[in-house]
Amino acid sequence: MTKIGIFFGTDTGNTRRIAKDIAVLLGANLTAKPVNIRTASVEDLLQYDKLILGTPTYGEGELPGLSTGNATASWEEFLPQLTRYDFTGKTIALYGLGNQKSYADDFVSAMFYLYDSFKQSGATLIGECSIEGYKFEHSKAVVNGQFVGLALDQENQKELTNQRLDAWLKTLQLLWA
Ligand SMILES: Cc1cc2nc3c(=O)[nH]c(=O)nc-3n(C[C@H](O)[C@H](O)[C@H](O)COP(=O)(O)O)c2cc1C
Repeated sequence: MTKIGIFFGTDTGNTRRIAKDIAVLLGANLTAKPVNIRTASVEDLLQYDKLILGTPTYGEGELPGLSTGNATASWEEFLPQLTRYDFTGKTIALYGLGNQKSYADDFVSAMFYLYDSFKQSGATLIGECSIEGYKFEHSKAVVNGQFVGLALDQENQKELTNQRLDAWLKTLQLLWA
């Protein structure tokens, strides 16, 4: 089995910590070392057939990046390049970090932009999750009644993160077996 590529955006480190947790939980045999999207090229992603991509949400439901006040470039600057590339045959699972209490109107919404961009580039998106167990008003990342990936809230539901990650990664491993 070829390795799974893990790429993340982050401003304050939460999404990076989850990327590292994912790598540990899946094991070094299955995963490559997580990479900050700020330092990655599209070709770096295209080395993998299986990808796990993580993003926090900033602004009001936006991607991390310079326009939302992050310290560095991130997914906001990366995604526009995708239109020039073909991700057909690639399978991608998304996870998103957010705060459902402070940003209930746009909880983990940035995941939607990754979902939409990679889908338009031909990728197959997997790993959607139930919205049960969260309390929020609206999220762009809910499509057909489900989150397009795994939603995590380190500010309000940190105690649920490990079990959510375990369950999600088990599903991905079955899909990728
Ligand atoms: C200025 C600011 C804006 C935010 N906007 C949103 C938002 O619109 N939706 C959301 O779910 N979370 C929002 N958050 C919460 C972050 O996504 C959350 O803290 C996340 O864990 C940060 O990840 P990072 O440490 O990887 O940067 C915001 C946080 C800050 C500081």
